[in-house]
Amino acid sequence: MNHLDFIYKRHSVRKFKDQDVPVEDIKKIIKAATYAPSGKNVQNWHFVVVKNKEKIEGIAKTIERKNAELANLIQDEDIKKGFTKFLRFSTVFRKAPVLILVYTEDSYKPTGLNVLKEINASTDEIHELLRSNPAMQNIGAAMENLILAATNMGYGTCWMTSQNYAAKEITEFIGFEKEGYFLAAMTPLGIPDGEIKSPPRKSVEEVMTIIE
Ligand SMILES: Cc1cc2nc3c(=O)[nH]c(=O)nc-3n(C[C@H](O)[C@H](O)[C@H](O)COP(=O)(O)O)c2cc1C
Repeated sequence: MNHLDFIYKRHSVRKFKDQDVPVEDIKKIIKAATYAPSGKNVQNWHFVVVKNKEKIEGIAKTIERKNAELANLIQDEDIKKGFTKFLRFSTVFRKAPVLILVYTEDSYKPTGLNVLKEINASTDEIHELLRSNPAMQNIGAAMENLILAATNMGYGTCWMTSQNYAAKEITEFIGFEKEGYFLAAMTPLGIPDGEIKSPPRKSVEEVMTIIE
């Protein structure tokens, strides 16, 4: 087995077998997520695990309702078509036995931000520093740990953010509350069903610059 196999066997999985995931396995996966690095070790994540089929379907319906609500307000036909056409990619979790919602809070700011504010730096300069968003980088690291751990344990996942326009409604629907936290991403979790393929990647040459 190649030592990087755990990377290459991960794919976004959008179809799942009707097979439960034991809580012990979910705990191992979440624990792996929490071993991700985070700036100043702030660990600004919270994982909400939904294991109830009706609730998972309810979340999908909540997204569909919000999509229709927003679509009704769109004047431009092309924008409207684009928005509704990809709705199914926001509900790919609907037949999964488990849905993990990843919440975060973003009080962890880039080092130097308070300095820029203190010296009355320009809005552009402050904006430029904020772009690297370390709080969200923490979530990316946790999410990647989570999905790689799940893959290594034989489960499929699909990192998802396209449903986030319905974040408020989803959070209300599941009744989750944690001061300052908001929905950043979610992933279904289950045994993959059928063939899984990933789209091609850019070549290493295209995405790498070596400076010697
Ligand atoms: C931040 C992020 C958001 C994503 N959102 C969605 C989504 O909402 N729905 C979906 O079906 N896939 C989503 N994906 C999966 C990507 O489409 C997928 O990772 C990409 O096409 C590469 O395929 P692979 O994951 O199989 O390698 C998302 C991935 C990332 C990293």
